[in-house]
Amino acid sequence: MKIVIFGSTGQVGSEIKKKLKNYNLFCPKRSEVNFLNIKKVISYLQCIQPDIIINAAAYTDVSKAQIEKKLCKSINSIIIKKLSIYCKQNKVILLHFSTDYVYDGKSKYKHKENEKLNPKSTYGLSKLLSEKYIINSDCFYIILRTSWVYGGENNFITKINNQIKKNKVFYVVNDQIGSPTPKELLGMITKKLINILRNKHKNRKIQKIFNICPDGYISRYDLAKYIFKQKRYQKKINFFPIKSSQFGKNIRPLNSKLNTNKIKNFLNIDIKDWSIYLNKYLKKI
Ligand SMILES: NC(=O)c1ccc[n+]([C@@H]2O[C@H](COP(=O)([O-])OP(=O)(O)OC[C@H]3O[C@@H](n4cnc5c(N)ncnc54)[C@H](OP(=O)(O)O)[C@@H]3O)[C@@H](O)[C@H]2O)c1
Repeated sequence: MKIVIFGSTGQVGSEIKKKLKNYNLFCPKRSEVNFLNIKKVISYLQCIQPDIIINAAAYTDVSKAQIEKKLCKSINSIIIKKLSIYCKQNKVILLHFSTDYVYDGKSKYKHKENEKLNPKSTYGLSKLLSEKYIINSDCFYIILRTSWVYGGENNFITKINNQIKKNKVFYVVNDQIGSPTPKELLGMITKKLINILRNKHKNRKIQKIFNICPDGYISRYDLAKYIFKQKRYQKKINFFPIKSSQFGKNIRPLNSKLNTNKIKNFLNIDIKDWSIYLNKYLKKI
């Protein structure tokens, strides 16, 4: 079984590449297969003829995307339309990553996969479009919506930690609530899904969307306090709470809480509280 991973140099993609190292993987870098070159992407796939495509490639700079709208849409949406048509025509399964930013975060409940979507940002809209293209193509797919991913070298956890270490004065929003998701959880779940797709022929005809994040939730400000406490910094707290609106127009959902019952039931797994995963990570940074 051949698996192509796009975005294998990114936070999520590199973890999946590691977890699936015993599989027959093809992991082209952006310099080899750029999502801005549709012909190249398709000719690469025609050459490899994969059974499964994992797409962890994306334009992920949420703020910059408000300016580079066209670029964001090309990388996150347009190519996904072509990819999903290719998958439909060639009976290839597409496992695609999406985001909590497809929800508007106005409700106070945990978001369910089947609720109405209403992104607030160019990035969120581009990811919603990618989902729509995949669904409309009628290919076999799994879409994994996740939130607040960390585990790479440069993410919001390392940023907060570095600011604290440098004694910088900074502000953290206290009205955005969600669950920090370690890349390892995404890698573990992806591997389980790939095993199901590989082992049971009937499961190859799959068309499903799942939310994935740890249990529990916290505000970004309380998360900064949590990091401070866990790292036992012996210094004065130099960061302060702020409302998202005080940073200008808020393009991020305030409520990023995700209901993950669907993936738990589908894979028959437990997912731990965010703090258990984060404690491990904080020992490493
Ligand atoms: N990070 C989060 O907090 C978060 C939250 C929710 C959902 N997600 C979703 O999870 C997925 C993975 O995110 P991530 O955090 O791993 O992102 P990331 O670390 O920014 O990695 C993005 C990947 O996409 C590749 N890429 C970017 N532009 C490309 C292009 N034009 N052609 C080909 N490849 C290109 C990058 O290649 P280079 O290494 O060459 O740049 C990199 O491998 C994305 O779908 C994202 O929307 C992320």
